[in-house]
Amino acid sequence: MSPATSATAAPRWASRAVRHDTLHTVSLVEGCLREDDAVLDIGCGAAWVLWQLADRHRLARVAAVDIVDLRRARVHEFALFDGIHIPHERGTFDLVMLNFVLHHVPDEKKLLLLNEARRVCRRNILVLEDTPVNFLDRWASNRHGESFRKRIGSRQPFGFYSKPKWEQLFAANGFPVAASRRISRLARNWRQPYARSVFVLGPF
Ligand SMILES: C[S@@+](CC[C@H](N)C(=O)[O-])C[C@H]1O[C@@H](n2cnc3c(N)ncnc32)[C@H](O)[C@@H]1O
Repeated sequence: MSPATSATAAPRWASRAVRHDTLHTVSLVEGCLREDDAVLDIGCGAAWVLWQLADRHRLARVAAVDIVDLRRARVHEFALFDGIHIPHERGTFDLVMLNFVLHHVPDEKKLLLLNEARRVCRRNILVLEDTPVNFLDRWASNRHGESFRKRIGSRQPFGFYSKPKWEQLFAANGFPVAASRRISRLARNWRQPYARSVFVLGPF
């Protein structure tokens, strides 16, 4: 158990689907996690993922930032931020996660946030994204984006990119791509069989 774990409460899962999806995300994170890592979750949402990581691994530090506070699991270190400027020093974290966050970030700000993620990162950035391929994917993405905007009272635009478009953005801006692969449509909640991808950036 990590030092950070003692600061996390043990909440009840919101639903079986949330548990299933969270544990799937955790399995992807574990592919680039090492014991004693310092981990930052940008856009932690309910913080289920961070709670599970801290519960399962010995981690040196576990921190989260988000533009709104939607936490259901307690995270020791949490900060609200403006969606771009991360309130941590350069090179503070071994692993920085952006799990299903970047599509909510307006297109003109995506790179600014990625650059900030790189600034505070000393090894890898993990990006999980909905990467629409067909009409159904795009329809569902749009609906999800709209409903999230309503939930947080925002009118800002958002943007879902395809997998090749993310790869282009990373390549054009000097982010080494250590891994880029599609996630099986059935790996998560079977009621939402949408196209998704995982990208591992770095090492930095
Ligand atoms: C779909 S939820 C994902 C939550 C969590 N990462 C997970 O995988 O369970 C999207 C999260 O992105 C956050 N978000 C939206 N815009 C953001 C921004 N500009 N910077 C950081 N987080 C943002 C939202 O507040 C929300 O918590």
